Amino acid sequence: MIYRFLVLAIGVIILTLTGNFYLSAQHRTEGTPVKRARINFDEDWQFHKGDIAIKRAVKAGKQGGLSDANVKVVTGEEAVIAYTDKNKVADYKPGDWMNVNLPHDWLVGEPFVHDDNIGSQPAGNGYRPAGIGFYRKEFEIPEGDEGKMISIDFDGIFRNSTVWVNGHLMGNHESGYLPSTYDLTDVLRYGTEGKNVILVKVDATDFEGWWYEGCGIYRHVWLTKTAKLHVDQYGTHITTPIVTAQKATVSIGTTLQNDDNVDRKFTLVSKILAKNGTVLNTQSNSLSIPKHSKLTIKQQANVVRPQLWSPETPSLYKVKTEIVENGIAVDDYETTFGIRTVEITTNGFFLNGKLYPIKGTANHQDFAGVGVALPDKLNAYKLKLLKEMGSNGYRCAHHPPTPELLDICDSIGMLVLDENRLLSSSAQGKEDLTTMIRRDRNHPSVFMWNLENEESLEGNVTGRRILESLVEVAHELDDTRPVSAAMNHGWNEGGYSDVLDVVGYNYGQRGMQYVKDHLQYPRRKMFVTESTSYVSTRGEYEDNGGLGYVSNFGLGIGWGLQPGQDWKHIVQYPFLGGTFVWTGFDYRGEPTPYGWPCVSSHFGIMDLCGFPKDGYYAYKAAWTDTPLVHVFPHWNWPGKVGQKIKIRGYSNCEEVALFVNGESVGRMKAVPFEYFEWEVVYHPGSLEARGYNNGQQVASQLIETTTAPEKLTLASDVDYLKADGCDVAVVNVAIRDSIGRVVPTANNYVQFFVEGPGKIIGTGNGDPSCHDPENTNQRRAFNGYCQVLVQSGKAAGEIRLKAISETLPGSTVTIKVQ
Ligand code: GAL
Repeated sequence: MIYRFLVLAIGVIILTLTGNFYLSAQHRTEGTPVKRARINFDEDWQFHKGDIAIKRAVKAGKQGGLSDANVKVVTGEEAVIAYTDKNKVADYKPGDWMNVNLPHDWLVGEPFVHDDNIGSQPAGNGYRPAGIGFYRKEFEIPEGDEGKMISIDFDGIFRNSTVWVNGHLMGNHESGYLPSTYDLTDVLRYGTEGKNVILVKVDATDFEGWWYEGCGIYRHVWLTKTAKLHVDQYGTHITTPIVTAQKATVSIGTTLQNDDNVDRKFTLVSKILAKNGTVLNTQSNSLSIPKHSKLTIKQQANVVRPQLWSPETPSLYKVKTEIVENGIAVDDYETTFGIRTVEITTNGFFLNGKLYPIKGTANHQDFAGVGVALPDKLNAYKLKLLKEMGSNGYRCAHHPPTPELLDICDSIGMLVLDENRLLSSSAQGKEDLTTMIRRDRNHPSVFMWNLENEESLEGNVTGRRILESLVEVAHELDDTRPVSAAMNHGWNEGGYSDVLDVVGYNYGQRGMQYVKDHLQYPRRKMFVTESTSYVSTRGEYEDNGGLGYVSNFGLGIGWGLQPGQDWKHIVQYPFLGGTFVWTGFDYRGEPTPYGWPCVSSHFGIMDLCGFPKDGYYAYKAAWTDTPLVHVFPHWNWPGKVGQKIKIRGYSNCEEVALFVNGESVGRMKAVPFEYFEWEVVYHPGSLEARGYNNGQQVASQLIETTTAPEKLTLASDVDYLKADGCDVAVVNVAIRDSIGRVVPTANNYVQFFVEGPGKIIGTGNGDPSCHDPENTNQRRAFNGYCQVLVQSGKAAGEIRLKAISETLPGSTVTIKVQ
């Protein structure tokens, strides 16, 4: 059955226009204020941990038996829209509520509990009991807004959220990974009618995945105000059906919503803007729209000599949409897009016509200190680290990402595999996929939709039918991108693979399944949707199950390859398209191969703070052209003097040589994408690796035995923060010896103090077994490093962050806020 998302649409008008149609002078009113506003609604919420019983309303305007008058909140003793279990009015006691700004994850502030039953699998969520919480916020809406359409948009709440505004139940939304929107127009109080109060119940007692998922309103919230006639939510659909060096054809689909009681006549103006704001092309069409209906209009325009988008050249354009009525722009709306072609063939992945194997990592939304509530800056920070490693692809595992992540990927250049959470063709399942695709389909970074990950119904007939229905949904909403499924079995059974455009292989190196399938099914398009799962703990060189640490020499968990070897397969077999290494960063939960006391995963190429593990250098060597040699372990082994020690390394040079305490141990050819090893006798001193190309030394690395910790240093990733109350400085702390060498075994306890317009929002150290609270102002270093996250306030000035440790002199870093 074909699924149609625009059931409300009363018609689709297709106007295929070529050439430039400029808006005539009588339709343009320069300087007319446009009605649309998208206001960030993250500030000044209150949070209540634990349940509040809410009685079901039986009359409009009543909530839990309270009349609308009673819910006119807000001061002191007056009631909140809630009852206690015993049917007694629960007074709004400010003391029970904590002031918070969003994004907010309350679970990250909770203690760890050794209970293997928490989450979907033992310790899946990282040993923190999730639960129920409430958010409320009081706000005013000016009188002048009456007559506008006003909605609230939640980018993501984990999970099962219910929303009341002024006592009116607005609705419920299950998914923790998709946005929810409520039209508040009718129930708001305008101007002197009084204050408004919104109450959000979050019930995270159930889970959606097998990793740490957090609890709360962990993504942004927006208030959107538009005229009655406006561009619909996610109402533009921009594609570039023809792209040549000379010209790109831009197809602009615009869905308008008329919420008015009368039919409206208007002119739809779509302007294509270059990055610097220059108008490159304008299309305009005069039309009418019946009352209470939607209308989709298609326009087409050209861009001459387009600047193509790619990870190396992330050129962006915009479509500025205006709805003009009687010479007044009643709505305007901007859509960022890019011009590029992506194609997956039986020969591999092609970007702008060129073979472009994807060097990708899979990642959950998670970071040190803040849990899943990442300020935009931390998403940007993670993506920057991945790019520095040479990565050009990001898989948002295993759910739709926060929309800001895609904005960043568009602008810095990172290809994205955008992922649906569940294999479900129920009405809700289709709606969820529809929301994801409508929300995300204008992003040039998104190259493919991933419909499921490792579902048990892979290779099964029922699974195939469900998948096929989802494929139809995706194709109908977007005919420019292929769809895939990240499968770990069943590739050749039940016709499952046959309904996909691209068949995803998770760990398809097992038995060289993907190569066998390529030969057996030569028309199959393939992609390595997941690879590697190499477990290691930063700075650890011996397995220690008791402490929950895995050596960087690898424990071999059985279903992956060594770092770098996965890339060797992509180079050898380009038809595989590219790979997504599991994972770029450690994340909370899924502490494979251990359980308690381990509370975080070990799969990351980098740890939870973004500090590189040794495997990082295998990828940097494979994915960048910069000559590199990296060996490990460190050279501080007081208990092993005179004993043999294994040295392992990664390099992209032709030859490598090793020197121990200045003496050559040997020189060997480096095999691309494989590690090299030596065994040497340990004596304190130095370990030096050198890399050679054409016989010339082009890279080196020196590791020295350090003395005891004597100082600490602070390094902020930025000198300046925006005075917007959101920006974040990532400050890395290193414990060093008297001459500044990082002490690789140092675990000093560090305390932080902030002066000036900023605050600490979290700390981390990358230790997967650390049970320290994460949102306080102190942290133990782990193997030489820890991290503190400092968020700016709204005043300009200077933040002075001071770090002290009992035995070491303090250190200070200054960050300007402007
Ligand atoms: C995959 C799965 C991931 C993660 C990984 C660990 O099979 O897709 O979510 O669990 O295994 O190796």
